[in-house]
Formats: sequence, C-alpha cells, structure tokens
Amino acid sequence: MLSLAAPTPPGWTRRVLAELPELLVDHAHCEKKAAGMAVNLVFRYPQHAFLLAPLSRLAREELVHFEQVLALLDARGDSFRILRPSPYAGRLRRATRSHEPARLLDTLLCCALIEARSCERFGLLATEAPDAELRAFYAGLLASEARHHGVYLDLASRLASRAEVSARLGDLAALEARVLAETPPLARMHA
Ligand SMILES: [Fe+2]
Ligand SMILES: [Fe+2]
Repeated sequence: MLSLAAPTPPGWTRRVLAELPELLVDHAHCEKKAAGMAVNLVFRYPQHAFLLAPLSRLAREELVHFEQVLALLDARGDSFRILRPSPYAGRLRRATRSHEPARLLDTLLCCALIEARSCERFGLLATEAPDAELRAFYAGLLASEARHHGVYLDLASRLASRAEVSARLGDLAALEARVLAETPPLARMHA
C-alpha cells in the first residue's frame, strides 16, 4: 500500500533508538526539508495550478510537525542543531530525469517514496519507542505521512497514465530500497 520495494530491516529500530536524541534532531530536519521541498515545487511550477494548494497545505503540515519535534527536543533538554544529513534523499533525487514533465513526475514519485518510508518507520517507532509520550507522538504522525504519500501519488497521476506512473514508481521504489541498504548506519530516519 505504501509502494515500498523492501521493508525496513529488523534491527533498525533498536539501532536508532540507542541514539534517540540524535534521531529526534534528524527527524526535525526531515520535517523542515519536507516543508521546503513542497514550497520549492510551488515556486518551481506556478503554471501547474493543480499542485499549488495541495502542496501549500502539505508544507504547512510539515512545518507544524517541525515545530512539534522542536518542542519535543526542548522538553527533553535537547536542542536543534546542524547534523550531517543522510545521503539518502540526495541520492534518490539524482535519479530524476532532466526533461519535463518527466522531471516533475520523478520528483513527485521520489517525494511519495520518502513519505512512505517515513510513515513505515514512524510505525515502528510508534510501537517500539521507549516511552509512552514518544509512542503516542509517532502514532499521531503516521496518518499524516500516509496521507502525504497519497497526495504525491495523486499529483503524479495528473502528469502521466496509470501504467506509466506505476512503472516509474516501481523503478524508483527499487532504487529507494537499494539506496537505503547502502546508506551508512547513522542514527537517521532515512539510514
Ligand atoms: Fe511530516
Ligand atoms: Fe510528510
């Protein structure tokens, strides 16, 4: 349902929870980047009226999530800081084709996959995080990220036939699983 080619390997949750403060800082960066990506698309494609309102709404939701993670960090005595990012999203985006509308289609599908992976991993944290506050926090975010996955797929479906979207999504999902498997094992949402 989430279009992922491979599930998160067993052991990821225990590994990242061992460095929970760093994982939470990375999570804050992910929410900020998700908002930035949606805003960036609104600026880059003003001619595509169909994506402006959905992506503006999505960006606002991601900024709310960003603020929620900042508050969580604050409540735990941690603070937001610069972190070496996982190479995951950059490597995934390098697969986008350079000509339009393929470039936009690929970008939307990569965003859909990133949302799907976040959603899957929030689900793991919602059951395995060490305290009830965190478990409830991740359970609450799950539904939004699943919806964002759907928003990006809906937008992609406006640009190409169902067969083309499905074929390209399959290729990019296989790449996403490969990139993730090759990513250094840092305490990151996408590593
Ligand atoms: Fe989010
Ligand atoms: Fe999201």
